[in-house]
Amino acid sequence: MHGALPSKAEYDAWVHEITYHTFVHENVKGFMEGFRYDAHPMGMLMASVGALSTFYPDAGNISDADNRHMQIVRMIAKMPTLGAWSFRNAQGKPFIYPDNDLSYTANFLSMLFKMSEQKYEADERLVKALDVLFILHADHEQNCSTNAVRSVGSSQVDPYSAVSAGVGALYGPLHGGANEAVLKMLRRIGSKENIPAFIQGVKDGNERLMGFGHRVYKNFDPRATIIKKACDDVFEVTGVNPLLEIAKELEKIALEDEYFISRKLYPNVDFYSGLIYEAFQFPPEMFTVLFAIGRTPGWLAQWSELVQDKEQKIARPKQIYTGERRLNFVPASERWA
Ligand code: CMC
Repeated sequence: MHGALPSKAEYDAWVHEITYHTFVHENVKGFMEGFRYDAHPMGMLMASVGALSTFYPDAGNISDADNRHMQIVRMIAKMPTLGAWSFRNAQGKPFIYPDNDLSYTANFLSMLFKMSEQKYEADERLVKALDVLFILHADHEQNCSTNAVRSVGSSQVDPYSAVSAGVGALYGPLHGGANEAVLKMLRRIGSKENIPAFIQGVKDGNERLMGFGHRVYKNFDPRATIIKKACDDVFEVTGVNPLLEIAKELEKIALEDEYFISRKLYPNVDFYSGLIYEAFQFPPEMFTVLFAIGRTPGWLAQWSELVQDKEQKIARPKQIYTGERRLNFVPASERWA
């Protein structure tokens, strides 16, 4: 956020602020309850983050540094609340209010999984693994969703509207939605014997091997190495996910295959993150929500940089017209006659 790591006092102040802004206005709860029982949590998250702009109309005052700080704190703090409630809606379970005695990640797990117990205490190893995943996802250059936040933010709209555009971009299966797609793909493959036929289908161009390939990483995705380690830590608590065997075999076969070698396709961050998320007993629809929570500080840091950049202009990609040079207008009455 500020370009340098915090002093102890700055850190404590930051933790305090984020912790005490986790609650949302009761009306947010009311409209989130209005979604259908089968609403995709990413759709709910996108809508509810965007809706926060109506609760904080002063957020449009983006030239004021204190105001920007306030909205940044609010959004980072409330994202887990909105994400957890999107999950509870699909489960038909009551929404759980934040517990400000807990850390950021432990509180998120409490809002997701608490039932009738007085206090929900997640296994420390799981809290740590999810923390690692959040940090790992925090920022990653000008990817599709960050570019969406910057592009929308360049119109000088409030940050809630800009970040909801980022959530929309992340939702897509070629971006953050890839972790959900990986899990669905592994389930569809079902067993190791089916891998060769699946690989052949990918090579024939019928589908993509989800969780493989990256626009920037052409030898390996360093995040995948860290995720693999986190996988081991989580499985120590939850037991090994049987899909891991299929994922490992798929990776092995793909990394030896000329098709993937020549195109420099390696596992990316999403190949293994879905397996961890599943071990937490999240349904695949929730995976991208976890990515979005982790990415929010990055989006906001990029947004903050953008709005303070004196040279920043409204985004407008150059269009190159490639259609017919001349088209004559024919009225509808003649075209449809
Ligand atoms: N499976 C099979 N073939 C692939 C794959 C894949 N996952 N990715 C790329 N290719 C092929 C593609 O068909 C093309 O082949 P050809 O040259 O014969 O036409 C070649 O590799 C280059 O692909 P591209 O589409 O030009 O590469 P790109 O840089 O535009 O795409 C990508 C990057 C991540 C969108 C793509 O690799 C992909 O669709 N991967 C699967 C989805 C995925 O895992 N996304 C998560 C990305 S990392 C986290 C994030 O950003 O959210």
